[in-house]
Amino acid sequence: MHIKSAEFVMSNSDVEKCPKGLLPEYAFIGRSNVGKSSLINMLTSRKSLAKTSGRPGKTQLINHFLINKNWHLVDLPGYGYARVSKNAKKTFQKFITQYFSLREQLVTAFVLVDIRHDPQPIDLEFMQWLGEHGIPFSIIFTKADKLKPNAIIRHVDDYKNVLLETWEDMPNYFITSSSNEAGKDEVLNYIDELNSNMELDTF
Ligand code: GTP
Ligand code: MG
Repeated sequence: MHIKSAEFVMSNSDVEKCPKGLLPEYAFIGRSNVGKSSLINMLTSRKSLAKTSGRPGKTQLINHFLINKNWHLVDLPGYGYARVSKNAKKTFQKFITQYFSLREQLVTAFVLVDIRHDPQPIDLEFMQWLGEHGIPFSIIFTKADKLKPNAIIRHVDDYKNVLLETWEDMPNYFITSSSNEAGKDEVLNYIDELNSNMELDTF
């Protein structure tokens, strides 16, 4: 898919105030600093559409971007950032769960995990929660540029083994890097495919 336009629409802490209408929507979620905002910039080929930072906790709101005038991409705050206050954490938690429970336009979530790390309980629990709520998701492994090819394979295999302890099948997944654009076409083509299926559904 070619990205012809990418515009910031709005930031919200209240899912009820998110854009109305029926445009298909794709949300990027994962731990703080995993690379959600960087991935959005990489996918859209826009350097600073989504704000990124070396310090975890940069994205604090639900951010909607309109792509090619016909679908939304959503940047969300990270979960599990230890250094924000308990209150702030609770607020995040609340609007993230509300977003996923109430946002009917959401076609699929992309759960980002840093390819260098062993499977973390917080990510596995979040995927479990999505599964229990019937919310489709894919996994996006980030920062693949930080590992050699054989280490990438090993880490993905480890992840598969852990997931297959609770899931019948390995969820759909992508291996990406915002630094070298690995996985860009795969993720965009997947979104394109889902968008086309949605159009067919409406006829
Ligand atoms: P929060 O908004 O704080 O939850 O973080 P985020 O998940 O949006 O992460 P962000 O995109 O701000 O990136 C965090 C840090 O990781 C930044 O310093 C990025 O430059 C770096 N980073 C993100 N993606 C990659 C990647 O693919 N490769 C490398 N090497 N660094 C990356
Ligand atoms: Mg961010």
